[in-house]
Amino acid sequence: MRTILVTGGAGFIGANFIRFVLNARPAYQIINVDSLTYSGNLENLAGLERDERYRFVKADILDVAAMGPLMEEADAIVHMAAESHVDRSILDSTPFVQTNIAGTQVLLDAARKAERMGRFLYVSTDEVYGSLPLEDTSVLFTEETPLAPNSPYAASKTGGDLLARAYHHTFGMDIVTTRCSNNFGPYQFPEKVIPLFVTNLVEGKKVPLYGDGLNVRDWLHVDDHCEAILAVLEKGISGEVYNVGGNNERSNLELTHSILGLMGCGEEMIEYVCDRPGHDRRYAIDASKIKRELGWEPTRSAWPEAMAATVEWYKANAEWWQRVRSGAYRAYYEQQYGAR
Ligand SMILES: NC(=O)c1ccc[n+]([C@@H]2O[C@H](COP(=O)([O-])OP(=O)(O)OC[C@H]3O[C@@H](n4cnc5c(N)ncnc54)[C@H](O)[C@@H]3O)[C@@H](O)[C@H]2O)c1
Repeated sequence: MRTILVTGGAGFIGANFIRFVLNARPAYQIINVDSLTYSGNLENLAGLERDERYRFVKADILDVAAMGPLMEEADAIVHMAAESHVDRSILDSTPFVQTNIAGTQVLLDAARKAERMGRFLYVSTDEVYGSLPLEDTSVLFTEETPLAPNSPYAASKTGGDLLARAYHHTFGMDIVTTRCSNNFGPYQFPEKVIPLFVTNLVEGKKVPLYGDGLNVRDWLHVDDHCEAILAVLEKGISGEVYNVGGNNERSNLELTHSILGLMGCGEEMIEYVCDRPGHDRRYAIDASKIKRELGWEPTRSAWPEAMAATVEWYKANAEWWQRVRSGAYRAYYEQQYGAR
């Protein structure tokens, strides 16, 4: 039995990752440590409470005393706890610096001291590379592209990314890093563009589109990301960085039209709003290294099918996002785990 400590497992990618691993690897067990910020939702993991291979621990990754003993129980860590929303980082970057930089440092130090701990995987983002020009679509982010983060969110993720790199270099720790493009799929917090737009349209509201809508993102289904994380965890070379992407570039306008079409709505439902300050123009990932070296390829991200399935999921799970939007999802923790 191999025990993986997952940080941030009650969030969007974390919950999908835990479900993915428990299903794909019967010999693995998971400890999920999450402080349940506004985006942490144990309903995302409903049904796993009685699974003997899964355990939830409510704790903050900044809590040094709590992280030490957890590290002693695990063979590897997949660190994805983070403040994750760019817009929030523009309003207040304090929790981003605390969790994404200082929290990562706490975990790296705890992992370094833990005797049993093997591999440390840092879930980074393509946003560490900054922005690409719209004009030349042949230019992609490779693992050698200089880091040039533009938002406080991206800068804080870059801080964690570089700390992980430094701990490998200085202390010889077994550390690998993934830098992934934008994810979509079930259980994404409805402040992010796809669930925000779908849930707005279900409620008959307009969708707020930033600027001219021409900003481009490379969209990957969350299960393809989970599979890539597992591949890097199991087969990646220590000290290496792996880009993860879907080769699925879409402008926000294209994305919006796709959602409007699937929802049977017209262009009049778009409300053009003031652009996000410092809005990166284009992200596009060259994921040839992980394909070449680890044999990973996206198999679940193809449009329009993958987008249609995601829209269907939000339509079919209205109770889930209505509870999130109203704040009612927070009561689930006490119901399941008592008031501890
Ligand atoms: N969503 C994407 O498209 C995307 C793409 C590439 C990389 N990433 C990275 O993947 C990771 C997960 O992203 P997500 O979209 O699932 O985010 P999310 O906001 O849905 O989930 C983050 C989780 O971390 C937890 N958390 C936050 N601060 C914590 C702390 N101090 N201690 C313990 N737990 C804490 C939250 O409670 C939540 O459950 C992040 O590191 C993010 O940077 C996300």
